Amino acid sequence: MDSAYREKRDAFIAAVPKAELHLHIEGSLEPEMMFALAERNGVTLPYASVEEVAAAYRFSNLQEFLDLYYLGMQVLVEEQDFHDLTMAYLERVHRDNVDHVEVFFDPQGHTERGVPFDRVISGILRALADAEDRFGISSKLIMCFLRHLSEEAAFATLAEAEPWLDRIAGVGLDSSEVGHPPEKFARVFAKCRDLGFKLVAHAGEEGPPDYVWQALDTLRIDRIDHGNRALEDEALVERIVRDGYTLTVCPLSNLKLCVIDEIAASPVKTMLERGIKATVNSDDPSYFGGYINDNYRAVANALDMTIEEIAILAANSYEGSFLEPSKILEKRAEIDRLLAMQTAA
Ligand code: ADE
Ligand code: ZN
Repeated sequence: MDSAYREKRDAFIAAVPKAELHLHIEGSLEPEMMFALAERNGVTLPYASVEEVAAAYRFSNLQEFLDLYYLGMQVLVEEQDFHDLTMAYLERVHRDNVDHVEVFFDPQGHTERGVPFDRVISGILRALADAEDRFGISSKLIMCFLRHLSEEAAFATLAEAEPWLDRIAGVGLDSSEVGHPPEKFARVFAKCRDLGFKLVAHAGEEGPPDYVWQALDTLRIDRIDHGNRALEDEALVERIVRDGYTLTVCPLSNLKLCVIDEIAASPVKTMLERGIKATVNSDDPSYFGGYINDNYRAVANALDMTIEEIAILAANSYEGSFLEPSKILEKRAEIDRLLAMQTAA
């Protein structure tokens, strides 16, 4: 692949419309904002400078990251903080030509330290509405349960969400995976399904293929977050392909959390080759060193991906979204037109 092709591919990555399906809003907290909010709210951080924060972001596994992620989010206190955090992310990805986002939030990371649920969700929703007006970005909000906490705590969070149910599209499962299998949350996910929520779960990031099976068969999820380790189980791959599940892969996250030891080991291309609907996402961009287009460029370069493959990833991001089918078809046609223009040029 020559440098002219790579340039053309980078231009396509920049220009192609795309949806982000795996983004923890608390993981978009940039160090500069962390310091500003710490000052605004009188919160003491264990870092002396932005440089010290950056130096601390070296992780050898998921838990080491999560410890700093929960620490960082302590600066989020007021409704305006949640608005500012969310708006900063949306402004940033608007520049990456993201026009639809399905945003995760971790209410228990806030309610556990005394910040009311209503304050968290109203700040996030206000920014999502503002971004729709300002940038035309559509969105869905996904409430995640922290899997290191009990299922009872998840039920309590669901009860707190009651006044907001019509503004929450789905529920997810995140935090420390190993030792907290999906089946631990079977009852609360069954209730969420009855309530009409879309269901997603982190599975197979660090956890074994069996956790992906559980997410599919016990939780009956609609989409798999990460899913890297599904590739270790041939029958599981066949099931994912047969039933058309989308996987939200996060290449720079995988690298930073040592799920892979180099970007060239990202499973994205293999998944596409196997017929899996893989997508590319940023997970926690401020902690992992890149927003969505950085993730696309990283895999494109390391795996020598073609412009056609990039177009498939972008199309998958809409197809795997919870948008209405007519909107998905519209985006697919838009991507096809852009692709035809690129390949004709
Ligand atoms: N919470 C935020 N990012 C996460 C990830 N990559 N895995 C599990 N929980 C998370
Ligand atoms: Zn995640």
